[in-house]
Amino acid sequence: MSLKTPKTVLLGTGYSVPEKVLTNQDLEKMVDTNDQWIQERTGIKERRIASPELTTSELCTRAARKALHDAGLKPKDIDVILVGTVTGDALFPATACYVQEKLGAVNAAAMDLQAACAGFVYVSTMADALISSGKAKHVLTIGGELLSRIVDWTDRSTCVLFGDGAGAAVWGAANDKNANKGIIDTYMKSDGRLTELLCSYGGGTKIPMKEAVENNQHFIKMQGQEVFKSAVKAMSEAVKSILAKNGLTGEDVDVLIPHQANIRIMNATVRKTKIAEEKVYVNVDRFGNTSAASIPIALAEARETGAIKPGQLILLVSFGGGFTWGSLLLQV
Ligand code: UT7
Repeated sequence: MSLKTPKTVLLGTGYSVPEKVLTNQDLEKMVDTNDQWIQERTGIKERRIASPELTTSELCTRAARKALHDAGLKPKDIDVILVGTVTGDALFPATACYVQEKLGAVNAAAMDLQAACAGFVYVSTMADALISSGKAKHVLTIGGELLSRIVDWTDRSTCVLFGDGAGAAVWGAANDKNANKGIIDTYMKSDGRLTELLCSYGGGTKIPMKEAVENNQHFIKMQGQEVFKSAVKAMSEAVKSILAKNGLTGEDVDVLIPHQANIRIMNATVRKTKIAEEKVYVNVDRFGNTSAASIPIALAEARETGAIKPGQLILLVSFGGGFTWGSLLLQV
């Protein structure tokens, strides 16, 4: 196996989730659902829910501090902060600017990128572009969401699925010490014809917030089955494309970190891409679907627990509203 020489190296990761656990049994008391249905259809047992005073930027900052510590860097070393989120603190300024202020990352440019659940793969692709082109030395990428704030807690078809959390990664330029480690390749795609299938369409400039709230249009809306089919198709395509482009097969991948939306989507994706099921990192049972946060939480947790070992080939793959999807091949 001969791979491209990476220019962008993963220096550190971290994640943060709220303390409060909401179990399937708790949900049984809120809507007409049951633990068995939720586990069989999604693989989720519990998810984390933020207390009212917690903000997305605070959760992102906690994850970022851990990632910086892991990387052995100071906030002032960061040149760019990129946050992937659909539940930012405000319409503007960017949540990344709040994170910058909280961290004291005084030398950074800060911005958000909106690619729903594919947010972390997208921001990390941007980090690779900035670093490999020499425009930045250190980039902090974060996926952070408080989805509990835009979930309709009376809609059983969506409220059982989502959770809150944030994950972060620090990327730097490759040098002699970490040769052959880092981002091998990235893949991104979108299909704007399918926006209506998964969205929160109220509260922007099309449907102002007052009108949206009156008509419940500020909540997540999803056509589950359609999204399910598209997710399997798109994630399989993203895996197959990036592997083929780099002369690899599913057998070469050591750990697959898919977006944690539904265990059945993950299983269907690996069946189509010939990656062994035991290579798939799964934590959807404990955190539910945390959108842009799901992959960086899983990546950080897998590094912390030793589920990912130095020298391994890691494949990230994600899919979300837009639709947006993508993959990232990483040697750690
Ligand atoms: O993060 C971005 C990507 N998001 C995703 O990838 C999510 C994709 N979609 C899914 O994961 C699945 O479609 C769901 C988990 C959302 C739903 O699973 P499903 O197997 O597609 O169920 P369904 O929507 O076809 O519903 C089956 C039945 C329905 O009842 P009837 O019509 O068969 O009587 C629903 O009303 O299950 C019912 N149902 C529930 N029952 C108990 C729907 N939600 C619930 C619930 N508890 N929470």
